[in-house]
Amino acid sequence: MIIDGQHYQSIWYDEAQDGVHIIDQTGLPHRFETRALTTLEQACHAIASMQVRGAPLIGVTAAYGMYLALRADPAQQVSASASLLATRPTAVNLQWALDRVDGALAGLAEAKRAAAALKLARQMEAEDIATCAAIGTAGVTILQQLWQQKADKDAPLNLLTHCNAGALAAVDWGTALAVVYKAAEAGIPIHVWVDETRPRNQGASLTCWELGKQGIANTLIVDNAGGHLMQQGRVDVCVVGSDRTTIDGDVCNKIGTYLKALAAHDNGIPFYVALPVSSIDFSTAATATSIPIEERGAHEVSHLQGVDASGALTTVRVAPEDAAISNYGFDVTPARLVTGLITERGVVAASKAGIASLKKGA
Ligand code: MRU
Repeated sequence: MIIDGQHYQSIWYDEAQDGVHIIDQTGLPHRFETRALTTLEQACHAIASMQVRGAPLIGVTAAYGMYLALRADPAQQVSASASLLATRPTAVNLQWALDRVDGALAGLAEAKRAAAALKLARQMEAEDIATCAAIGTAGVTILQQLWQQKADKDAPLNLLTHCNAGALAAVDWGTALAVVYKAAEAGIPIHVWVDETRPRNQGASLTCWELGKQGIANTLIVDNAGGHLMQQGRVDVCVVGSDRTTIDGDVCNKIGTYLKALAAHDNGIPFYVALPVSSIDFSTAATATSIPIEERGAHEVSHLQGVDASGALTTVRVAPEDAAISNYGFDVTPARLVTGLITERGVVAASKAGIASLKKGA
């Protein structure tokens, strides 16, 4: 992603310094800061505090976390893996990445573990970029068709997205937003409706920022506006990401995704999910009702963070002090509401057969 003329990834390894670096997303869009991760604890904190977030990025950060842990003490493989796994429950990419690291380290002498973990983490970083770019390319075909079908050629193709499934949610490109970036590269005039995505406002703070930096036209809307815009014919397609997709094609993503899918279905608007195969939970035990849904603190709902007139970061309370609050981070959209899954291996149906066709080598 280009930020003020410079290319950045959300996470990168600096060989000269033997350092892992991230964009700290908790300050965006107000503060652009990068941080070095030097220990396992810092990697765990980065994921848990959402300095890094988004399913693909969580996975790659966990792989680097294993490297940092083993560099300090190659005997702590099992405990390091457990600590990283405990940071966030919903995105299956975390388990996927840790399983890959464990597999690569199996049978290795302690002295060789850190180097092997680093090699794999760097490979996963590079793979994620290629994977997301391929997702984007696969999605362009769909947007091209929708653009050709659109009667009003004076208006851009209007795509609605939820949360942030962009370059900030992966190493680069993103998933849903990779489709947008590749469509723009292909010359499709595109405009993005960005759901603010309460309570943490990843849409307002991250997606608007990221799209703006890439020069993509976008409009921020409150989470409840999508249905109205769809009824007005002002949404041509919805594309979102996924934290965990089951073998039946049910899609777990940021809370509120399900309501957008319902509204899209009611209005005959295609609803696509863009995801890497690493976001699919191939275990047969994973069903729509068994996915661990993250429950987060009440403070995210009762309070809002932003900058005041002087530019200082500040937090204000919007709910009564004694309000009872629940804060589910994710919901599950049933496969029947999903038009298709856009993956690096092509576009498939959100169904048992569609998912099975992706399994090879997963
Ligand atoms: O809580 P977050 O910000 O990690 O949630 C992110 C999402 O829900 C994304 O849509 C999902 O991880 C897909 S990212 C390509």
